[in-house]
Amino acid sequence: MNFSFFNPTKVFFGIDCISNYDNHFLDIGKKALIVTGKSSAKKTGAYNDIISVLKKYNIDHVLFDDVSENPNFEIIERAKNFGIKNNVDFIIGIGGGSPMDAAKALAVLIANPDFDVEDLYNNNFDKALKIVEITTTSGTGSEVTQYSVLTDMNNNKRGFGNFKTFPYISFVDPKYTLELNFDLTLTTAVDAMSHSIEGLISNTSTDLTDLFAKKSLELIKNTLPIILSSESNLNDLSLRNDLSLASMYAGMVISQTGTVLPHVLGYGLTSNYGIRHGVATALFQLPVIRKINSENPQKLDTLYDVFYSFEDFNNFINDLNLDRYCTKLKSEDIDSFTKNALNSKHIKKTPATFTYDDIFSFYSEVCK
Ligand SMILES: [Fe+2]
Repeated sequence: MNFSFFNPTKVFFGIDCISNYDNHFLDIGKKALIVTGKSSAKKTGAYNDIISVLKKYNIDHVLFDDVSENPNFEIIERAKNFGIKNNVDFIIGIGGGSPMDAAKALAVLIANPDFDVEDLYNNNFDKALKIVEITTTSGTGSEVTQYSVLTDMNNNKRGFGNFKTFPYISFVDPKYTLELNFDLTLTTAVDAMSHSIEGLISNTSTDLTDLFAKKSLELIKNTLPIILSSESNLNDLSLRNDLSLASMYAGMVISQTGTVLPHVLGYGLTSNYGIRHGVATALFQLPVIRKINSENPQKLDTLYDVFYSFEDFNNFINDLNLDRYCTKLKSEDIDSFTKNALNSKHIKKTPATFTYDDIFSFYSEVCK
């Protein structure tokens, strides 16, 4: 077997990891652009932790706290102009996937001020500011990937990323996820689950990515039903620790394999129907795995090391009741989502044959 594995992000994991490893800020830069959403960075304590470190090392900063869920090009353009005007020389993203993905885009755009957001998609850049990512959810994996997914002005979610957009440093402190409610815990954890499953089935999987994916799925299988079973479990640090690990491992997987068909199938549900990314993707795991199970079952050996059989996997997914987040889709939207998936690069990496009718029926199955 031949394979490569490249992931240059320095990861610091564990309680108080920012203050425990703050010496890594010694020579990182003089002025940070902190990129966040409206509230979670402050509510979780992550913002205060980072401000203490910046003060300690006399590093200046400015704050852009207007990154909404699924950030669009207009927000990124505004943040870019703000960063350039303030002469920042590195970026700190704090939050879930949206601020962390925005941070990657801004690292490239501020280092290449002639670029507009559309230029990111040529992936033809070799300059970016250093990126520090601090995750406050456990699902996206963005803290250890090169990928950034933004929403363009036609409401399409589109990803980019190359070796320059890997975070320079990533801090994963499970205590920041303690305040996540039931919905956010579930909808982000199933994104991590999807990353690991899609990494396993991808035509680009390797023995090394399978190791991460298997461990991640074991943690999710053993932790998610328990953490969702009571209010007190939602605040259990050891369970939070396991979901944070699972999410990071899953991020390691897709940093090598990318995602496959379920991710692209979910994009339209998020852009057009507001269904959270993790759910929109997880909804399609069952129909896609069922198809692979019938055509290419050996590709599922590692999945069944964790879930034992298609029936067990089916039961695990059904018990999550993800259809509670669904809504009925318009037939013309299903047609356009299906065509989009058929033209995607994701489908080429998914080890089964998928026709227009197959994919159309997936949408009808998951959103009734
Ligand atoms: Fe995802």
